[in-house]
Amino acid sequence: MIIFQASSKTFYLHGKTSSYVIWIDPNGYPVHLHYGGRIAEDDLTYFDMRTRPVSFSPIPPDAENWFSLDIAGQEYGTYAQGDFRTPSCILTRDDGDSASRFHYESHRVFSGAPELSGLPHARGGGETLELTLCDVLSGTRVTLFYTVYEALDILVRSACIAAGKQPVTLKRADSFCVDLEEGDYETICLHGRHCAERTPERAPLAHGTYTVSSSRGASSHQMNPFLVLAKPACTEDRGEAFGALLVYSGSFSLTAEKSQAGTVRLCGGIDPLNFSWRLEAGERFYTPQAVLCRTEEGLGGLSRRYADFLRGYLLPPAWVHAPRPVVVNNWEATYFDFTNEKLFALADEAAALGVDTLVLDDGWFGKRNDDTSGLGDWFVNEEKLQGGLSAVIAHCKARGLKFGLWFEPEMVSEDSELYRLHPDWAIGKAEVSRCRGRNQLVLDMTRPEIVDHVYERMADLLKKNEISYVKWDMNRHISEFYSPKLAPARQGEFAHRYILGVYSLAERLQRSFPHVFFEGCSGGGGRFDAGMLYYFPQYWTSDDTDAFERCKIQWGTSYSYPMSAMSCHVSVCPNHQTGRTTPFSTRGAVASLGAFGYELALGNLTAEEKELVRAQIRSYRAVEPLIQTGDLYRISDPFASNLFCVAVVSKDGREGYVVGMQIHAVPADTDHRLRLKGLREDARYEIAELGLTLHGSTLMRAGVLKPSLPDFTSFVWHLKQVG
Ligand code: GLA
Repeated sequence: MIIFQASSKTFYLHGKTSSYVIWIDPNGYPVHLHYGGRIAEDDLTYFDMRTRPVSFSPIPPDAENWFSLDIAGQEYGTYAQGDFRTPSCILTRDDGDSASRFHYESHRVFSGAPELSGLPHARGGGETLELTLCDVLSGTRVTLFYTVYEALDILVRSACIAAGKQPVTLKRADSFCVDLEEGDYETICLHGRHCAERTPERAPLAHGTYTVSSSRGASSHQMNPFLVLAKPACTEDRGEAFGALLVYSGSFSLTAEKSQAGTVRLCGGIDPLNFSWRLEAGERFYTPQAVLCRTEEGLGGLSRRYADFLRGYLLPPAWVHAPRPVVVNNWEATYFDFTNEKLFALADEAAALGVDTLVLDDGWFGKRNDDTSGLGDWFVNEEKLQGGLSAVIAHCKARGLKFGLWFEPEMVSEDSELYRLHPDWAIGKAEVSRCRGRNQLVLDMTRPEIVDHVYERMADLLKKNEISYVKWDMNRHISEFYSPKLAPARQGEFAHRYILGVYSLAERLQRSFPHVFFEGCSGGGGRFDAGMLYYFPQYWTSDDTDAFERCKIQWGTSYSYPMSAMSCHVSVCPNHQTGRTTPFSTRGAVASLGAFGYELALGNLTAEEKELVRAQIRSYRAVEPLIQTGDLYRISDPFASNLFCVAVVSKDGREGYVVGMQIHAVPADTDHRLRLKGLREDARYEIAELGLTLHGSTLMRAGVLKPSLPDFTSFVWHLKQVG
């Protein structure tokens, strides 16, 4: 709910349990007054204390009252006018001056959410405050958007910067800024690396700035575009936490800065390191959105709100709750070394075991038999696949299997027809040798003719073949941020224009082929972010398919993303990434906590394992609605303990699904209790696997005994309300 109180010039943005309050002070500056528990619409201008200068604070010449930007809480941090904290935008005029002074100009409240053309964004719902500020020094207007999703305590923010009569160059253009009340906070980020994405890390926030960022041209494995500020007492289940999640897939930065007053500025958006943007008179720039969330229900409460928001307002609506294809992907089964016969055999087994889609991974096109060649040549390699894709698709179809295909649209190998024809299509300067990553170069997606070319190639294949699923991969980061087609003064636009090119390709493909299901991938989960999830309902979570590592990766990913967005496959043991052997049932149990599938040579399984595959698919289908719509409760942390355990509970509390894994066996482990969460206190639940029927209160307060199990062995319990 959004309320404007004209008498005090105050905006109240109410979530179910939170309020966010903005005041237009008598000088015309927008001042942030409160982001915390829900309050009444009382006049909060007694907080004007918070705007008064302290020693050494500059006072803007247009501030008639005792006011300084050095102290005042801001909605969009200004530059060179006495606010020395991280600025939200830097607007440089042609005379080199960058000072800006934003005054309130107008506002508008409307039902629904803004549509950001060319950028992924929240799909409707909510109520929006549009607050327009004018920089009195340059005439540039900044419109701040705040969309309130009241029931979820979610606030989606973004900014539109419009040059006035004077052109400006943006040196920074954040999505949001909020100055939180003074106090102790801890930061939680999701850092990682290839095969170990999204590891939660918590640390006290000291004075100064703490920034999580990526300057790799992609949101990256190394750091996710998500940052939490939690009060020190905040636990998994209770306590105050603020989250900021960017709906963006390129280089980003998120900063928490503790000021002299102990207040904390939380801000971020596009990474300013590789960014500048020229706005000619009258031109506009839209920042990506940031999804803010505040809760007193701990980190679990924060995660559930993000999951609900992403499922309800961001993921592709046509797919978000549709049954997902249970795939077998041939990558770990064959790598590049496949033939018609091998694929036919995999398809035969898949169909017999109840899998519904065969996904043909890397190596079906150009002359690609390893990772040194062929990218960009999206033509079937008929020497390798005799009869082309149609032979494989026909074979699948005859067995009732659907067919999926891998692409890496943004890349080119130097050893390819495309590169020989267009050496200047790769990023960087064709005349200067360029950095290679996985032996490949990156196509210049800032250029519409290149995006068109890739679209045409992919569209041709999708039109001519019965392909129901596309895996869109991206296997290196950008090093040379340079396009010969951009003017020298505009090279700073490269990184953002690149990702806009990627979005435009994804958008076009989805509009033209609405029946095709898209899965995202980037060397595993290297670009697993809310921007990509707008186009791809699921994302390959990690190249690490080891069940124990996956417990950790899926645990970390669940901090800000729904389970149904995580693509999870059962693979072979010893595991290809870790060499570890885990039981087949454990691999199935862990993979069932996401969009489920297989990634192994099904024909090599024992008869017993094949029986398990059939049972796993049946049982996955039974819990799939829970995975897609239920609430996730993290129960036992695999990073901090010897046990992984999570529970998924249906929204009506009638059903639950608990998956656990003993990491290392513990002898004489007789009284280790597991307390469940999220159940209805007075409902009685039957846990068939344990032969128990107990009240929710008992299951949550007294708990049940954790089974004593060997290394890496899982347990799975289904809870059904019986009274
Ligand atoms: C990446 C993906 C894998 C596979 C390979 C193919 O590493 O994450 O799943 O598709 O590329 O080259």
